[in-house]
Amino acid sequence: MALLLKNAHVVDPAVELDGCVDVLVEGDKIAAVGENLTCDAAEVIDLTGRYLVPGLVDMHVHLREPGFEAKGDIESETAAAAHGGFTGVCSMPNTKPVTDNGVVVEYIKSVAAAKGHCRVYPSGAMTKGLKGEIISEMGDMVEHGCVAFTDDGHGVQGAGMLRRAMDYGQMFGKVFMSHCQDEDLVGDGQINEGAVSTRLGLLGWPAEGEELQIMRDIMIAELTGAKLHIQHISTAKGLDMVRAAKAKGLPVTCEATPHHLFLTEDAIDGTYNTCFKVNPPLRTAADAEALIAGVIDGTVDAIATDHAPHSDWEKSREFELAPFGMTGLETALGLVITNLVKT
Ligand code: DOR
Ligand code: ZN
Repeated sequence: MALLLKNAHVVDPAVELDGCVDVLVEGDKIAAVGENLTCDAAEVIDLTGRYLVPGLVDMHVHLREPGFEAKGDIESETAAAAHGGFTGVCSMPNTKPVTDNGVVVEYIKSVAAAKGHCRVYPSGAMTKGLKGEIISEMGDMVEHGCVAFTDDGHGVQGAGMLRRAMDYGQMFGKVFMSHCQDEDLVGDGQINEGAVSTRLGLLGWPAEGEELQIMRDIMIAELTGAKLHIQHISTAKGLDMVRAAKAKGLPVTCEATPHHLFLTEDAIDGTYNTCFKVNPPLRTAADAEALIAGVIDGTVDAIATDHAPHSDWEKSREFELAPFGMTGLETALGLVITNLVKT
């Protein structure tokens, strides 16, 4: 079965393509790309005014399975991914049981193979049970297909623990992805610390609660030689730290989420809408502007959603009791086209 896609705006950075061309698909292969293609046997679809891009990859997604299927599961969340244009997602390890050994990695892969709507690349925990106490079974997980290590959702609190995990785990060649949150400093912080938190009477989450660990993790990555990726970076100062690390030639990368790029703390008002409760919190307009500048100058290596579904009833609770997290897979591409490409 052949398919001729006409007049789409085709974007493929891998071959430096960014323009209006036709694409002929035969079976599961792209047979031709060019202008004014014809093929008598093909079904023709006119894509005038639409984009055609390679399948997108979201390197930060919570699929919730195993353990939290009431919030979402591998089938439902990979369906959301496919609906949003993603053909691959990296799953986060804060499952139940935690993805901290090869068996859980294998479970995720097997469910994804049976029911998934896109490719799933599991990440594995850096520490057992995400507790920050004992190194996880890194080698076992890599053997089973784990692509990266992260304690996302918590972050490793002890600098010594992080050093040991990086010293040991770097032999597997995978990247260490950091959720940067100093729990002692952040405490029960609900939203960004500042005028909005004060006005709404919500406990503040200072930018420093993230930035201190970004700096610490860059320094420990330099000490150990490990590859570091900063997850969901949300502050201008944190981004400057990544910029400086890159300028030094360190293997440090980072991602920003659509919500930290396109929303600010000012979205949170007296309605206490828990949809805006997210970790790290929405920051200031100056921070969002700095992140967008970081996308443009390449300091931000990837836009990743941190897609984190929760149940209706959980998000319907009082602001302080509702869990942190937003969904993003179905809205990310549209937001990026509207707010970045078109502007
Ligand atoms: O808002 C968040 N939700 N941030 C995280 O880091 C974890 C996530 C979740 O698992 O719900
Ligand atoms: Zn996350």
